[in-house]
Amino acid sequence: MSAITLTDMSGESVPVTGAFPMLYNASGTMDLEASEAWVSAHVEAVQSTLAQCGAIVFRGFGLASDADFDRFIQAFSWPNFTYAESLSNAVRRNRTPRVFTANEAPPDVQIYLHHEMAQTPVYPSRLFFFCEQPANGGGATPICRSDWLLERLHKVVPNFVDDCANKGVRYSQTMPAQDDLASGQGRSWRSTLSADDKTAAETKLAQLGYTWRWQADDALSVTTPILPAVRELADGSRSFFNQLIAAFFGWQDSRNDGRRAITLGDGSALDAVAMQSAVALAEELTVDLQWQLGDVALVDNLRVMHGRRPFQGERKVLASLVA
Ligand code: FE2
Repeated sequence: MSAITLTDMSGESVPVTGAFPMLYNASGTMDLEASEAWVSAHVEAVQSTLAQCGAIVFRGFGLASDADFDRFIQAFSWPNFTYAESLSNAVRRNRTPRVFTANEAPPDVQIYLHHEMAQTPVYPSRLFFFCEQPANGGGATPICRSDWLLERLHKVVPNFVDDCANKGVRYSQTMPAQDDLASGQGRSWRSTLSADDKTAAETKLAQLGYTWRWQADDALSVTTPILPAVRELADGSRSFFNQLIAAFFGWQDSRNDGRRAITLGDGSALDAVAMQSAVALAEELTVDLQWQLGDVALVDNLRVMHGRRPFQGERKVLASLVA
């Protein structure tokens, strides 16, 4: 089997804790079958690398299609988290049972840093991305260590961080009756809640502890129960596990105003100045993942936020979620 190196993104040999993200490079010497065998034999090593650095890129592993990506993921034997059952607000299309298109929002829409589905009570533990076609320009996937962000943020605005940790947050959002492809959060309530009619939607919401209000055009406004905004991780560190940045700056469409979409758990408003600090610090800590054809990225969703830079041309990045 060919030699696979573990380095930082520039190819430099560094300790696993010394770089974010880390790169497993097979240099294009492996076919898919060999890659699957390598993954099966190295799941624990990959898992331990991921636990330490938060994100990994696999390059040159011989993947060319959505079906290849599906097989590569299956080699990990991790449980699938399905888009259909998720409460994700982005519009996506399934390619295989495990693989779907990343957010279908238009190229000029920036998707701000977020933890996948942290605005809902059910979220994936890890994410896979696969670059089927890099954009002509732009289109990087920004990633940011949320544990580092929380540490820095606590030094600047400790009261804000303590409020987030102690009170939690609630998210409000309005979902259209039909998918709205012009929006980064345009998934219809029917699809989001897997509900055929209003009664089924209400039953699901009640089970999840949401409150709701119907709009005249059959759009549905919902508010989550109190969700944690700071999360303790397995190694004792804490991450800024929430959707504050994305919602505050990105949840703008014809139905939603991001600045009113979130409150602290007690109903009080978020400190807008502290939020500016969070965004500025996050931007400082962000690394842009520059896609090459066939790359796979694996992201620890509890420790690392991701987003999408605007792009030109066609960009096909597929995703798969781990329960
Ligand atoms: Fe996402």
